[in-house]
Amino acid sequence: MPNLLVNIDHVGTLRNARQETFPDPVHAAALCEQAGAHGIVFHLREDRRHITERDVHLLADTVKGKLDFELSTDEEVVAICCDVAPDLATLVPERREEVTTEGGLDVTAHQQRLEDRVDRLFGAGIEQVSLFVDPIPAQIDAAAAVGANCVELHTGDFAEADTERARREEAERLAQGARTAHEAGLRVHAGHGLNYRNFSLFQETVPHVAEVSVGFAVMARAILGGLGQAVRDMNATVNGPLS
Ligand code: PXP
Repeated sequence: MPNLLVNIDHVGTLRNARQETFPDPVHAAALCEQAGAHGIVFHLREDRRHITERDVHLLADTVKGKLDFELSTDEEVVAICCDVAPDLATLVPERREEVTTEGGLDVTAHQQRLEDRVDRLFGAGIEQVSLFVDPIPAQIDAAAAVGANCVELHTGDFAEADTERARREEAERLAQGARTAHEAGLRVHAGHGLNYRNFSLFQETVPHVAEVSVGFAVMARAILGGLGQAVRDMNATVNGPLS
């Protein structure tokens, strides 16, 4: 059974949309851990659109389980990650105009840059350094060649497949990717678009997965699942408790 790490970025998205101090991703991280998450994931983006440096430092101080810091190869963000020294650093591609991470890193095209960042992250005492890659054997082998000790397989194509057949084909690609990574001695993580419906097919098809990172599906369910109670609480505030 893989460990579940919950990505709390979108709590920051909601807070920042109103330029408020709440809801606080640090508070959300504590609730996720209390509810059984093995750890917490966040992505400090160059544009700070959700997680801020204040959040990073508080998360580093307060998260009790595994902390996964997602980052691009940007110099400033790499320096912050080295300073914080999380349990796991996951390098991801990043473009300012994207809505969310789109696809895995092109490791074969950026070997030197990635090798430098992987070295620096290990040099800061971080024990697991992972590259977010599509389930393509050449990219996975390149991740091992630049010195990473984990890969996170991008599950976005699997999640977005619009027919049952396409979804099964994507699950098979992920399974092959996981075998390639395992044979190369890499720890296997996976994430992006995993949800309450697609997880069972993922799990029964893809071997060797030590950890999954899930964000959007959990936050979407939290909002709708908590909405009834939030309205009852507001009604009690406006009208007094129901007798
Ligand atoms: N893994 C990586 C590398 C990501 O960038 C994201 C999205 O922030 C996730 C996992 C989680 O994806 P989702 O929010 O769709 O569960």
